Amino acid sequence: MEIFKEIEPLRAYLKQFRQLKSSIGLVPTMGALHAGHLALIEASRKENTLTVCSIYVNPAQFNNLQDLEKYPQTLERDTALLKASGCDVLFCPSHHEMYKNQDHIRFDFGALDKILEGEYRPGHFSGVALVVSKLFNIVLPNKAYFGQKDFQQFLLVKKLVEDLNFDLELKRVPIVREADGLAMSSRNMRLSTQQRKDAPVFYQALQHAKKMLLSGKDLKAVQNEIQLMCERKPGVRLEYFALADKENLKLAESVTGQSILLIAGYVGEIRLIDNLVVGDEN
Ligand code: PAF
Repeated sequence: MEIFKEIEPLRAYLKQFRQLKSSIGLVPTMGALHAGHLALIEASRKENTLTVCSIYVNPAQFNNLQDLEKYPQTLERDTALLKASGCDVLFCPSHHEMYKNQDHIRFDFGALDKILEGEYRPGHFSGVALVVSKLFNIVLPNKAYFGQKDFQQFLLVKKLVEDLNFDLELKRVPIVREADGLAMSSRNMRLSTQQRKDAPVFYQALQHAKKMLLSGKDLKAVQNEIQLMCERKPGVRLEYFALADKENLKLAESVTGQSILLIAGYVGEIRLIDNLVVGDEN
């Protein structure tokens, strides 16, 4: 595996492959890799000649400084995992390499970046859009891979690709879960033993809600039940639970073929998100 910390040598390296008409797959990450990330690498390896993984903890997308400072950084372990997974190139730039200017461009996605995650993490999606645009311009991938766990992020990147005419295909890869249903996340490694036991409550809530909604229960009643389910666990705090249209995340009152349930909350001070499609899977 080739490792690059700087943009220009990476660009020069990738240029040779582009001239050979190789297909380049990009997997953008913030490191602290887990099986969810490795599924993205695997998907890219199946569909491309060359897979590039980026590891960069992007300060522009953190609205909470404490969250940024505590974000797990495990580059040595990540590098070993990437090598073992057959990834071809690792790009792990410094802050100075990525942001030479302190003041950066802001993005506005209208309603899409103001609801759900956007409501609780102001500025977050602007920072995501900025770093993803930079990575797309640096790597010029044919395909880019994102996880379904960050469903709103996926829709936003989709809009970014469409509106800015990035010449690439976007791929959404299903959530990888632990045996007890907890969605894989880099944040899970910060959970204490008790918190780790409580954390699957969000997935259990999604499954329970899906069942209730499909059996015709009213959304308000379902929301109350989910709130109670979370409150029963000390240390768990629900931030939002929503039924939405999976094309545009507009909030819905009842289930359609397009429905998705989204949830976010805290276990102790660790913020977790998850989602579950209620309507048709694709
Ligand atoms: O999903 C993530 O890990 C990040 O938001 C991303 C896409 C790598 C941008 O920093």
